[in-house]
Amino acid sequence: MTPAENKPSPVWTRKDLTGLEDLSRQEIETILDTAPQFVAVSKRESGIKRVPLLQGRLIVNWFFEPSTRTRTSFEIAAKRLSADSLTINVQASSSKKGETLHDTLDNIEAMHSDVVVIRHNCAGAAHILAQHHDSHIINAGDGAHEHPTQALLDAFTIRDHVRRQREDSNATLDGIRVAIIGDISHSRVARSNVWGLTKLGASVILCGPNTLMPPEVGRMGAETTSNLRDAIAGADVVYALRIQLERQQKCLFPSIREYIRLFRIDNESLKAAPAHALVMHPGPINRDIELAAEVADGPRSVVLEQVSNGVAVRMAIMHLLVNGRAA
Ligand code: CP
Repeated sequence: MTPAENKPSPVWTRKDLTGLEDLSRQEIETILDTAPQFVAVSKRESGIKRVPLLQGRLIVNWFFEPSTRTRTSFEIAAKRLSADSLTINVQASSSKKGETLHDTLDNIEAMHSDVVVIRHNCAGAAHILAQHHDSHIINAGDGAHEHPTQALLDAFTIRDHVRRQREDSNATLDGIRVAIIGDISHSRVARSNVWGLTKLGASVILCGPNTLMPPEVGRMGAETTSNLRDAIAGADVVYALRIQLERQQKCLFPSIREYIRLFRIDNESLKAAPAHALVMHPGPINRDIELAAEVADGPRSVVLEQVSNGVAVRMAIMHLLVNGRAA
């Protein structure tokens, strides 16, 4: 038996994961503390990269927006948990004929789904489905609202580095400073990270053009600035966001060249950050716009570690949702 097979599940009481705004620090830490056993499964060099924790369960991926990382990560996570999984091809589905989300999910549930992972362009889509359906619903991104699994894998990656830097396997994010740079207005990643990181004891500073800074961030517990230097001075983590040109209704900054001049994370702007600062990005990267290639591929970047950790964190989430309550 491996650790993942014999370790009892921590107690978990929620049916769904729709956002981090509602979760407590303890619940977030339960997910983060459950993930390392699944990192070990993914890193197995001999033997099968698989545990039977969701054997016989059906995971349905339902993505209304493009995705590379999140969709493949959930698919791989499902396989590593020995679940059956399928991805609905939305373009070829009856949504295109006018079927509602509820009707589609009723039909999927008639085929006995256990977990439904949904990405939708409407904020609240996952939440509404979770209220009215029996399947475990996981929000894989809803409009500009939340992307909880991204923020959880980000927190896991930061905590892992903090623990290694301090040589302390119990180190927490208390006192860690995270600067999130870019298009805050359109970013579900920023919102979930503010909820998650501040609950874990980190301080978050949001930096971007004033036109891309939503008014509600003040009540979310983050500082704000439009000065990149101020944001990253003293930051343990410099987190660049993708400029989401596809979500902008109107021109919110003068030009890409202007954005690059003021907000791009490159070797020059990074001089303001401490030497130990990590560089993160949720992907996909607009190379040389919000993040210079020299930094994305450089020694401070943990971008691909974020992706690797995403599989383990999503395995932990699905395991807790399905098995946690029985523990
Ligand atoms: N970070 C993220 O959500 O990437 P994808 O859009 O490729 O899933």
